This record gives sequence, structure tokens and C-alpha cells, in this order.
Amino acid sequence: MKITYLGHSSLSIETKDKTLLIDPFISGNELAKHIDINKLQADYILITHAHQDHILDVEAIAKRTGAKIISNYEIVVHFEAKGIKGHPMNHGGKWNFDFGTVHYTNAIHSSSFPDGSYGGQPGGFVIETGNHRLFIAGDTALSYDMKLIPEVIGELDLAILPVGDNFTMGIDEAIKASTFLNCNKVLGYHFDTFEYVKINHKEAFNKFSKAKKELILLQIGENLKL
Ligand code: NI
Ligand code: MN
Repeated sequence: MKITYLGHSSLSIETKDKTLLIDPFISGNELAKHIDINKLQADYILITHAHQDHILDVEAIAKRTGAKIISNYEIVVHFEAKGIKGHPMNHGGKWNFDFGTVHYTNAIHSSSFPDGSYGGQPGGFVIETGNHRLFIAGDTALSYDMKLIPEVIGELDLAILPVGDNFTMGIDEAIKASTFLNCNKVLGYHFDTFEYVKINHKEAFNKFSKAKKELILLQIGENLKL
């Protein structure tokens, strides 16, 4: 499995034969100018919630690639009205896709479309594919519910957590989340894109290593293999 960081909360996950795109917000990200959305592959686009910084490039990429959306019911309905196919889910549910199993998990956040219309409840995903299981938290606060993930779904290989603070949890809470999730390997996202979410990288790495945990912060375009 190859995970490429596309900036902010955007990721491309290549499994054995499918490509999943997560929360594509690329063309509006000053820091991701070197990523061309017209060259991105996608069989599925997973969307955690309806905020602009998670859906900006969904329509363009889905229409070009024919990718199917996986998200909450309201977001899927919103994109179906634009002629894009989707698979609706809601919290606590799981579904077996051709690349693996997806669970839609709880998040503490909000979820309105840029025009203010209702975007359902925000969520995150646990993706199980091949021998790997990873958690993509979405925009969320630290939550005690995270303890349920390893207990009910199973042990994680990687936790992808927001670390930018202000709109989501920050570094200190991400360390606690990693403990709740029973997963010491954390890929941080949702940081540095805007003034509100800028973080001190050195301090973040120091805090994680003091807690005997691994924090990975990828450059935009850089990848991680599991
Ligand atoms: Ni958000
Ligand atoms: Mn966000």
C-alpha cells in the first residue's frame, strides 16, 4: 500500500489494484501548486465531511476519472445531483468494496457545504485492505470513542490524524488519540495550509518522541509505503 500526501487532508492511497483519493483540496492550496489534479488517478474518492477544504476538487476529478464517491448519505446525494455516482454510508457502518472494507467512524466537528447547506454529520474512515488497516480521522477533536476502533475493528497499522489545532485536535491531543487508538505510528495531516493551522514541526516531533511514539509529516507529493 502506498500513501501519497497531496497537502492539507488530501491523500492518494494505492492498494494492490485500486486508487483511493481522500478529501481532495489541491487546486486551492498554495502549498500544493506542483500537484496537477488532472494527472491524479482515482477509482474512489472518500470524503470525510462537506467543508470546502475537503471537497474542492471532488467534482473535477470524479467527472474526469469516473471515480465513485464514498461518504455520508448527504454528501453522496449532493454529488449524485451533479451526475457523480456514490456509495452512501453512516456512522458505525461498514461495507466490503472491491479493494477492501471501509468503516465510517465518528468525528466531532461540523459539516456544511460551502453554500451553507447541510452536509450530514462529519466522519472518518477505517480502511482494511490486503493485510493493512489504517484509520483516517477526518477533522475531529480528540474523542474517547477512538478507543472502540482497535477494540471492535482491530489493531491499526497507521493512524492518520489532524495535528493543526484550532479547527481540530492539535499535537498534544493527537498523542493521546494515538494511545486511545493503540497505534504508535501517526501520520499527521491538516496542518500548515492556513495561518490558523500552522504548527512548529520541531516541537511536534519532540513531543511525540518524548511519548515514545512516531510522528510522520510528509512533504506534499511525498509517499509512505506500508
Ligand atoms: Ni472541516
Ligand atoms: Mn478541514
